[in-house]
Amino acid sequence: MTKLGVNIDHVATIRQARGGIEPDPVTAAAIAELAGADSITVHLREDRRHINDRDVRVLSKTIKTRMNLEMAATDEMREIALEVMPHSVCLVPEKREELTTEGGLDVLKQKDHLKQYIKPLQEKGILISLFIDPDLKQVEAVSETGAELIELHTGLYSECFDTKKEDDAFNELLQGAGFAQELGLMVNAGHGLNYRNVKRILTIPGVYELNIGHTIISRAVLTGMEKAVRDMKDILNVK
Ligand code: PXP
Repeated sequence: MTKLGVNIDHVATIRQARGGIEPDPVTAAAIAELAGADSITVHLREDRRHINDRDVRVLSKTIKTRMNLEMAATDEMREIALEVMPHSVCLVPEKREELTTEGGLDVLKQKDHLKQYIKPLQEKGILISLFIDPDLKQVEAVSETGAELIELHTGLYSECFDTKKEDDAFNELLQGAGFAQELGLMVNAGHGLNYRNVKRILTIPGVYELNIGHTIISRAVLTGMEKAVRDMKDILNVK
């Protein structure tokens, strides 16, 4: 059975729209776990546009499954990771101007740097995952860094879903996952997955966990709408 990591970043995005305290991603994480999430992912971005330092610190104490901290490979982030001690760290590229993580990490270009960067984290028992496009050269480079996992970027597949390009994008994921497993890496995948396109991903042998965020939070807003309105009507109806 493939495990589900729930990315709760966009609960924080809604909170940041008003700069207040609701909805709290800490509560969202607890509910996700009650519903069966196998792990919780948060991306602490350099610009703190959604998840913030307080969230990461509180979540590190309240998550009962596994905490996967997504972050850029900077000194600041490594210090935070060493302080909060997540189960795993997923290194992603980060550009300020992007709406979301747009491409995989170029591991090939910075293999030696990444190898040194992840060492202190691994020495403390934190598992390292590198988020990469399904490119065999990148997969090989990950295995040379000593990271334990790859997370395959499913963004292109998701974009191409239901088009002529879907098979090509899917086959790249299939090959990338197979090659990574031959090299002894554990394979996760994520980005852009939704309730329709996720089904084909499940046919890739050996994928350990899928990290899914935006579509789950989007559905939660809609499926929770009716109750939220009724709750407010109940209050108004008292008078
Ligand atoms: N995995 C990684 C490495 C990501 O950067 C993201 C987006 O934050 C996700 C998974 C989840 O993507 P989505 O929100 O599109 O499900």
